[in-house]
Amino acid sequence: MMRTKIVAGNWKMNKSLDDARSLATEVATLYAKEIKQDTIVILCVPFPFLNPLKELLANSSVQTGAQDCSAHEGGAYTGEVSAAMLKSVGIPYVIIGHSERRQYFKEDGALLAKKIDQALANGLLPIFCCGEPLVVRENGTHEQLVRRQVEEGIFHLTPAEMANLIIAYEPVWAIGTGKTATTDQAQEMHAVIRRQLAGKYGEDVAQATPILYGGSVKPDNAKELFSCPDVDGGLVGGASLKARDFIDIVKGAEG
Ligand code: PGA
Repeated sequence: MMRTKIVAGNWKMNKSLDDARSLATEVATLYAKEIKQDTIVILCVPFPFLNPLKELLANSSVQTGAQDCSAHEGGAYTGEVSAAMLKSVGIPYVIIGHSERRQYFKEDGALLAKKIDQALANGLLPIFCCGEPLVVRENGTHEQLVRRQVEEGIFHLTPAEMANLIIAYEPVWAIGTGKTATTDQAQEMHAVIRRQLAGKYGEDVAQATPILYGGSVKPDNAKELFSCPDVDGGLVGGASLKARDFIDIVKGAEG
């Protein structure tokens, strides 16, 4: 089955509004000029930049996404941003459960399941992240951990809800370290996740669900990674902060 490739940039907590505008403009310009546009390209940016960039990209096929949303519907939760708010400014995508949220903000499976529910209830497309830290990879229990993350985060969903979900496998030891997973390591884990989806939801859902790879994706390794049969694109951190590099990574996703 041919799944549409997706490349999402995760800007994390970087840039000023001016810098964000310049970078998004440059990405949109290069995308229009150099990309066949059969790949979905998403910029996941800090909350204050969402609305301005959404407007700036109105005539571009480059999409916008948030990096998180609240597990709550609304009300007295100072500092939180709800999925309904994101929807109200026209943001289609939201990253849920990035390893930095799991690690630094102690987000666990139960909380992430609620965030996923909020996103889906408000018509957003969640990019659900999973992936093992280095110690877990070293002790050989990475498959079990990732399967548990998947089970806790999304296995309460109906098959119909699964149609709106994107998964990102991001081994923590590869994030921001320059140590990319080998194509064999990436393919192996993507296949594990897809088999797990097939066991729970059947082969059709498993084959239709995009599974992105994240962790030190760069222009020189993107094509190889994205060519793996079960790797449907990437979630890109550091390299998404340079328009040239990011677009070269998007090129790696083109057929
Ligand atoms: P990186 O980050 O590309 O800088 O490794 C990936 C991510 O955290 O999504």
